[in-house]
Amino acid sequence: MFGIVKGLLQLPGRVLLKQPNRCKLDASNMYDKLKFEFTEQNLCRAKDLLSNYPEKEQRGALLPLLDLAQRQYGWLPITAIKAVADMIKVDHFEAWEVAYYYTMFRQHPEGKYRLTVCTSTPCYLRGGDVILNTCKEVLQLKENETSSDMQFTLKTACCYGACVNAPVLGINDDIYEDLTVSELECILDNLKQDVIPPAGPRSGRFCSEPISGPTTLLVEPPPAGFGMQELCKPKKC
Ligand code: FES
Repeated sequence: MFGIVKGLLQLPGRVLLKQPNRCKLDASNMYDKLKFEFTEQNLCRAKDLLSNYPEKEQRGALLPLLDLAQRQYGWLPITAIKAVADMIKVDHFEAWEVAYYYTMFRQHPEGKYRLTVCTSTPCYLRGGDVILNTCKEVLQLKENETSSDMQFTLKTACCYGACVNAPVLGINDDIYEDLTVSELECILDNLKQDVIPPAGPRSGRFCSEPISGPTTLLVEPPPAGFGMQELCKPKKC
């Protein structure tokens, strides 16, 4: 298996041997029998995406294409990374490094619902640790574990940038904010029945305004370009 992967990526042997941990070669990377192809619909999307880039700069589409491949597959096998790299004429190893650098790319199959609890300081101070422990208890999972039925994966993350609404839990692409234990239990119950609850703050607030209601921006803001016509008028001498 090692030889096949090495050949596939055309990596110098010494690179693989010197960095065994970074390579994380895993049988799960091979069980698609080394094949990856975009579906017809995703191929259309990929071409559409590429049309946004000048011909000589198509390598700029690496991240969105990797994301598309991951959305098709649920995770990123080595073969998908290679297919994307070929598509935009990027070195396999470069594409592989990018895919391993960003935590949003997954090199192993994960659960249908990926729960990521924010454990950075603001969330921690607002009970992020309790949220994490509740997830562990309700789902009977440890950190970085996936349930045997492939429904849930539990992880932690460092800040979603929604600290004002701490504590925060990410579920796939959405975040759930202002969480309490009872709200979380309700969300997990829904997910167990394959019902995805609406994302966002669970405290009733719309966004990140004060919990007692907005204190600024109380009127409809003027439209874009407001005042520009006045500015363009010639000044009277
Ligand atoms: S610390 Fe949790 S979202 Fe920023």
